[in-house]
Amino acid sequence: MAVGTQSELRGIHEAMLINGEWLPAHDGEELQVMNPARHGELIARVPRAREADVDLAVRSSQGAFPGWRATAPLARGKALVQIAQALGERSEDMARLIASETGNAIRTQSRPEAKTSADIFRYFGGLAGELKGDTVPLGDNYVSYTVREPWGVVAGIVPWNSPVQLSALKIAMALAAGNTLVLKAAEDAPLGVLFMAELCQDHLPPGVLNVITGYGEECGAALANHSGIAKLSFTGSTEVGKSIMRAAANRILPVSLELGGKSPAIVFPDSDDDKTAAGVIQGMRFTRQGQSCTAGSRLFVHETIFDSFLARLISMLKELKIGSPLAEETDMGAIINEKQFKKVCQYIEEGIDTQASELLLGGPPPKEGALAEGNFVQPTLFKNSSNDWRLAREEIFGPVLVAIPWSEDAKVIEMANQSHYGLAAFVWCRDLSRALRTAHAIESGWVQVNRGGGQIIGQSYGGYKESGLGREFSLEGMLDGFTQTKSITVDLSH
Ligand code: NAI
Ligand code: MG
Repeated sequence: MAVGTQSELRGIHEAMLINGEWLPAHDGEELQVMNPARHGELIARVPRAREADVDLAVRSSQGAFPGWRATAPLARGKALVQIAQALGERSEDMARLIASETGNAIRTQSRPEAKTSADIFRYFGGLAGELKGDTVPLGDNYVSYTVREPWGVVAGIVPWNSPVQLSALKIAMALAAGNTLVLKAAEDAPLGVLFMAELCQDHLPPGVLNVITGYGEECGAALANHSGIAKLSFTGSTEVGKSIMRAAANRILPVSLELGGKSPAIVFPDSDDDKTAAGVIQGMRFTRQGQSCTAGSRLFVHETIFDSFLARLISMLKELKIGSPLAEETDMGAIINEKQFKKVCQYIEEGIDTQASELLLGGPPPKEGALAEGNFVQPTLFKNSSNDWRLAREEIFGPVLVAIPWSEDAKVIEMANQSHYGLAAFVWCRDLSRALRTAHAIESGWVQVNRGGGQIIGQSYGGYKESGLGREFSLEGMLDGFTQTKSITVDLSH
């Protein structure tokens, strides 16, 4: 695939990777990939896979499984390291592609995503030799040990918000552990994933990785319900996650789910400074238009610094440059599609209409000028004394932050935990004893103290409550999520 400028991308016809070949959909249908930064602009077409295509892909991965499973772990790891190398060499092309289809700014988002994706392959490639079991002491007359075995064909389903990184994670973890994988890309952002598939295919036997493109209901659901699948790994909305878990229940399949969030960011009175304000902005993922499951989208600021801290935050948010995802100076790009754009705008309208809340920055998107040409939403900040309104409870998945004052530690922890989500949390506090007491009391899978950055390779990541099941990004995540354990017991007195 040649990767060019945005206009060169327009109208490209792409194919899916099935059994080492590049194929259209069985019935020849396609779906359109649109430019988030320009209303109505088509950038590519990809196959619209349905049940027949899913079936072909799953059967191919079933066929490839015995050979891949029998491949020595170090050889599997070597292939993943070679893929890391290839991704590294094409990193800039990948970054441009990601920026074009997701609307995520190249400097702040897409380039780091391309780089991290290569790092993920390198990390799990190195870990392929660590699929160790245990020996169990049962006395001199016994030898008892465990082996870690792959599940078989894994179904991976990914969203559009960091499509390549999330796909890299599923591919690398599944394949290192000896599984084969059918990966369904998100309909809004399949191009980077297809490009990655092309680089992967150079180093893998046919069928070990199949990548299909299609809509959720007709392709994703067909994949989740296919009888040849041995494990489901899904990242996306909580609502769809529940349907994936129901599909798993029908056949007692293992499932890992990385779902939504409404993560708290708590600012303590000793942290009214610029570093903290910059960290809150990073944690909220404003430069990914807030489209992150990890986003710290509920901001609790101590009442004694509430006004001064928000003034700091607002002056920094005003500095963010919104514009073309491919422009070097852009900090913040466009929302993925018109549906999400409208949804975010509705939340903003609702915030404005809510009597108890006050709009401090941003608001509805510009109706004219360059930014009116795409799905651009300005950083938006509301304040409200309550934690109990829709904007403070639901995952908006846009650049909309709600600020709420607090006075007592116990009360802010209670508010932070009043959520059916529990993915991440951010504690901003110089008094480390107080910070860690808070971190221990928060119900979420990942609490960061004085850090607003993204997931770290090697550290388990995943949610509490309705934010998900299972952990990714780490050796433990790979072992627990992508292998099953067999015990072997030998009676030596026989
Ligand atoms: P989604 O959950 O519908 O889509 C994620 C993936 O699941 C896509 O590949 C999609 O094709 C697939 N999918 C959709 N319906 C399916 C089904 N019935 N069976 C199998 N696969 C299916 O997310 P969507 O609609 O793009 O975004 C809606 C909301 O979800 C967002 O506003 C946000 O709140 C949340 N979301 C959360 C993400 C996260 O990382 N936690 C990522 C994307 C969305
Ligand atoms: Mg959906």
